[in-house]
Amino acid sequence: MSFRLQPTPPARPNRCQLFGPGSRPAIFEKMAGSAADVVNLDLEDSVAPSDKDSARANVIAAIGEIDWGSKTLSVRINGLDSPYWYRDVVDLLEQASDRLDQIMIPKVGNAADIYAVDALVSAIEAAKGRTKPINFEVIIESAAGIAHVEEIAAASPRLVAMSLGAADFAASMGMQTTGIGGTQENYYMMHEGQKHWSDPWHWAQVAIVAACRTHGVLPVDGPFGDFSDDEGFKAQARRSATLGMVGKWAIHPKQVVLANDVFTPSTEAVTEAREILAAMETAKANGEGATVYKGRLVDIASIKQAEVIVKQSEMITSD
Ligand code: COA
Ligand code: MG
Repeated sequence: MSFRLQPTPPARPNRCQLFGPGSRPAIFEKMAGSAADVVNLDLEDSVAPSDKDSARANVIAAIGEIDWGSKTLSVRINGLDSPYWYRDVVDLLEQASDRLDQIMIPKVGNAADIYAVDALVSAIEAAKGRTKPINFEVIIESAAGIAHVEEIAAASPRLVAMSLGAADFAASMGMQTTGIGGTQENYYMMHEGQKHWSDPWHWAQVAIVAACRTHGVLPVDGPFGDFSDDEGFKAQARRSATLGMVGKWAIHPKQVVLANDVFTPSTEAVTEAREILAAMETAKANGEGATVYKGRLVDIASIKQAEVIVKQSEMITSD
């Protein structure tokens, strides 16, 4: 990428983000005890309008009271098109303990959305003397969000992660589906009388990965709604991992193990990556830029690919 170095995203595991409604405090301890790398306490769409105030109070209390271990702790605030979001930000920043790591901003449409939240957060941090800066994560889940994805990825140094929210995205785009992620019945081609299903989320995912990688942000795949379909979840997660995403949401605790399984590089993959690095070391020592590994070409680009896998694996095992 030009003469500028591609920025490195935060070195932290983000294989699974487990969500739970802020209006259901009985599950908070279970979320804290799960194997998810990130916990997202939700104030937005899983909370009914009549419960917004009590959910916010539950979440603020739980941030300080529950032992969240080494997890990244995030709260999803309400969207900027709602009457709730400013109170979410003000109360969280004024009242929550500094165990809170980040705020998730849903339905972002452009960089100015992030700027608005950043201005409010920065003022409250300064006024309250909060010494640990709050990070942001955002959800791309609208036509405007995907159209402005790169400016959003560049919008604030607080931004660490960006997710694709399939359900709202589909609605905003006018897609004819009610499925939340995964294979869609009518998205197929015919070949010799057989249906071959394709991936309607592919373009949006790649756009998100490219914007994130350009600006040092972690790209994450969002929810998979049918939590009784483990194979469907894993297929979606494997496609996301192949495209460069680092993790996936869980909207039910049974999805955590599936996401961790897919986004933890396998022992075989890590061994192979280390062997490729060793083969390239030998090649370099012999003054060569390319060599043969298991019958295929490996070159200087292969070093970078192999390093991605080795780095991911080291970060997860050192956690
Ligand atoms: N995190 C941790 N534990 C959870 C959980 C969650 N999100 N959802 C359910 N559990 C617990 C239940 O309390 C139950 O525990 P128990 O065995 O000790 O009784 C167990 O997991 C099995 O739960 P189950 O009965 O299968 O599910 P449910 O009917 O209680 O809840 C959902 C199902 C989908 C309503 C619930 O998982 C949920 O609210 N998910 C998150 C939704 C959300 O946040 N959406 C916003 C992002 S898209
Ligand atoms: Mg949404």
